Amino acid sequence: MLSPQADAYFNGGAADGFTLRDNALAWQRIALLPRVLQPLAGGHTRVELLGRTLAHPILVAPIAYQRLAHPHGEVATALAAAVLGAGLVLSTQASTPLEDVARLVLAENARGPLWFQLYLQVDRGFTRELVHRAEAAGYEALVLTVDAPVNGARDRERRAGFTLPPGISAVNLQGLRKPAPAALQPGQSALFDDLLTHAPTWDDVAWLRSITRLPVLLKGITHPADARLAVDAGAAGLIVSNHGGRTLDTMPATATLLPAVAQAVGGAVPVLVDGGIRRGTDVLKAIALGASAVLVGRPVVHGLANAGATGVAHVIRLLRDELEIAMALCGCARLDQASLALASGGQRHGETRARSDAG
Ligand SMILES: Cc1cc2nc3c(=O)[nH]c(=O)nc-3n(C[C@H](O)[C@H](O)[C@H](O)COP(=O)(O)O)c2cc1C
Repeated sequence: MLSPQADAYFNGGAADGFTLRDNALAWQRIALLPRVLQPLAGGHTRVELLGRTLAHPILVAPIAYQRLAHPHGEVATALAAAVLGAGLVLSTQASTPLEDVARLVLAENARGPLWFQLYLQVDRGFTRELVHRAEAAGYEALVLTVDAPVNGARDRERRAGFTLPPGISAVNLQGLRKPAPAALQPGQSALFDDLLTHAPTWDDVAWLRSITRLPVLLKGITHPADARLAVDAGAAGLIVSNHGGRTLDTMPATATLLPAVAQAVGGAVPVLVDGGIRRGTDVLKAIALGASAVLVGRPVVHGLANAGATGVAHVIRLLRDELEIAMALCGCARLDQASLALASGGQRHGETRARSDAG
């Protein structure tokens, strides 16, 4: 079980937690409207993603410091994801060496995609070496997180007095030297005149693409204009994400942002989504709204904290089973029929308005 400090770290959101709560609520508010008597024999949850066929569209989101949740940490999560065919995105701030995780995942035939999440470090030389380590270890794509140039206001963590306990650290960043703090003049900002002078920009996306042969996905795209810039910058895919409500509080829920981003991208690259996905019905709704696949964060941590690899496997298995049930009940044999499942015009729960075509 999680300590109160770890609970605040994993389950907390930024500031007052509006976006954190909204993420889950927004999926729940989207109504499904079944079609009956559709042919369902031979149905499946397979999807195509970046040139591969996946058994189902569920990936494990990058979550830092998983050994805080369970002594086996990322190893347990990776094993469970691999045997259940779920993709795995390993965090830059993982508490397990990236090579150890890759070795386990790559040995499993049923595995899904193996991607490495990247935070660009101020030391671009170190970043380049980290990218090359990930390539050498067998990671198949880089996921550049672009929505957190600075941590959000993590009030719940602060109230709980959260700090990393001894023995748990971002081991893949060992040897990274932090730049000395700038000598600020009175009136200067520690953020704008120091930390953020190194913050990544669109130029760094071009730089990253120039130093790697791996496809680069951008995680944390929410604005349609940024989605278009990302495609122009050569991103291989986008992840609509508000970092699980941990960065900017009062951002809209990802369920409400996804359709406009998918429309802006127009199928040029795959669009994925995360934030508040808790049920198979949520997965179906995400696909119906234009996502190619989804990432799941905290539910995986809960499985890990409660029962290690078995717990993570249970969470992924439940989500997949629920997705199949939701598809069958909506009359969708395949996920390319998912949009059939949405009530026309995105009717919301609690609305009594009759559908225009209801007999
Ligand atoms: C405890 C915690 C740590 C996270 N660490 C990272 C990280 O290292 N890199 C990253 O890109 N996103 C990180 N995220 C964000 C997740 O990848 C994902 O966007 C979010 O958790 C999805 O929302 P959900 O938890 O509601 O499923 C973290 C989220 C949590 C809850």
